[in-house]
Amino acid sequence: MIEIRNVQIPNDTRRDVFIPSTRPQTIEASRYTLLPALIDPHVHFRTPGHEHKETWETGVLAAIAGGVTHVLDMPNNYPSCCSLERVLQKKQLIESQLQMADIPLRYGLYLGADRNCFDEIAVSKNEVVALKIYMGSSTGDLLLHDRPSLEKAFQLAAEHQILVAVHAEDEGLIQINRNQYSAVENPQMHSVIRNPNVAAKAVEMAIECAQKFNARLYLVHISSAAELSLIRQAKRDRLSVYAEASPHHLFLSDLAYGHLHTKALVNPPLRARTDVEALWESLQDGTIDTIGTDHAPHTKAEKMQPFGLAPSGFASIELYLALLLNAHHQNKISLKSIIALTHTNVRRIFNLPSNDDCVLVDLEKTKTVTDCSLKTKAKWSPYAGWTLTGWPCFTILKGRVYAV
Ligand code: NCD
Ligand code: ZN
Ligand code: ZN
Repeated sequence: MIEIRNVQIPNDTRRDVFIPSTRPQTIEASRYTLLPALIDPHVHFRTPGHEHKETWETGVLAAIAGGVTHVLDMPNNYPSCCSLERVLQKKQLIESQLQMADIPLRYGLYLGADRNCFDEIAVSKNEVVALKIYMGSSTGDLLLHDRPSLEKAFQLAAEHQILVAVHAEDEGLIQINRNQYSAVENPQMHSVIRNPNVAAKAVEMAIECAQKFNARLYLVHISSAAELSLIRQAKRDRLSVYAEASPHHLFLSDLAYGHLHTKALVNPPLRARTDVEALWESLQDGTIDTIGTDHAPHTKAEKMQPFGLAPSGFASIELYLALLLNAHHQNKISLKSIIALTHTNVRRIFNLPSNDDCVLVDLEKTKTVTDCSLKTKAKWSPYAGWTLTGWPCFTILKGRVYAV
């Protein structure tokens, strides 16, 4: 049994909390607040094929450091994870990497949608948490953007009762804009090429497909006011449409190109202040259901290549909770909302079983982020140099206590 003594329960009293465990332990917790452990619905732990960026051995350490005990991993691997065979192979690799780390992280996998693999949806449905569609190109070669293929994917997903997760950027518009600005070397152009209309057009089409076939739709990394209006309307229309926001769209804006240059590249791109503000508002009004980190590690050397070559994405899982607790410290979000966005809603949307995992946080602890202290293999962060107040201190997973 793990005894957590005198811990603060959010919006409630202090209590002694007991968690079943084969390893008895007592934690004097009067300075801590107890939260359910976070579930990150959107990570890229890069196995198989990109182990130089991250593996589950390093990714699990970053997850635990961020108060996360359950991750849902994306299929844009090499080769992409778009068949039952590849899902099962990937699980074996993950199991052996987690064994090396000796941390039994909980995880689920997405099945990548590929027009040559539609038959895999039915056979894989019990092995994955959702079907993932890339309507716009991003890291990897998964892409499904013509209307007939999209409709086929939504139809099959609805038939087999599997959630459809969508990266919503319109590939046609991306290509037109890319050709128009092909001579421009300024990375800031990324936000013009993949502007909010590009995202909104794809969101609109995804919602239409979900409605047509009565499918459940999960829109990942929503970043702009234009997308949010469409999602708000879909929810008013009582469609099963859910939306995720990612930390970089909440905590960074397009001003970050000024100091991060090509390191600021991410899909969808960093947005204007007005979009960032709209995203914060939508956390309050329920338009956004979850926060998924989109933990997408790339090495610093890769990120520092010229615009056009540098890959998109940031490592962020270990700062997931600290960034949110710092926002709480600044009165921008309640602990209740943090719990809903990082745990309760994720569990509900993905139909995940409950467990005793939890995280003890020190709401007063202040620490500055440095690249060298990071557990991710990428070893760099767009938040380096930020001083954050509110950090996870202990993560408890399957009855094991990890000091972080
Ligand atoms: C992600 C990656 O690198 O895997 N990159 C990103 O910019 N978000 C892919 C993705 O989530 O689109
Ligand atoms: Zn994406
Ligand atoms: Zn992603």
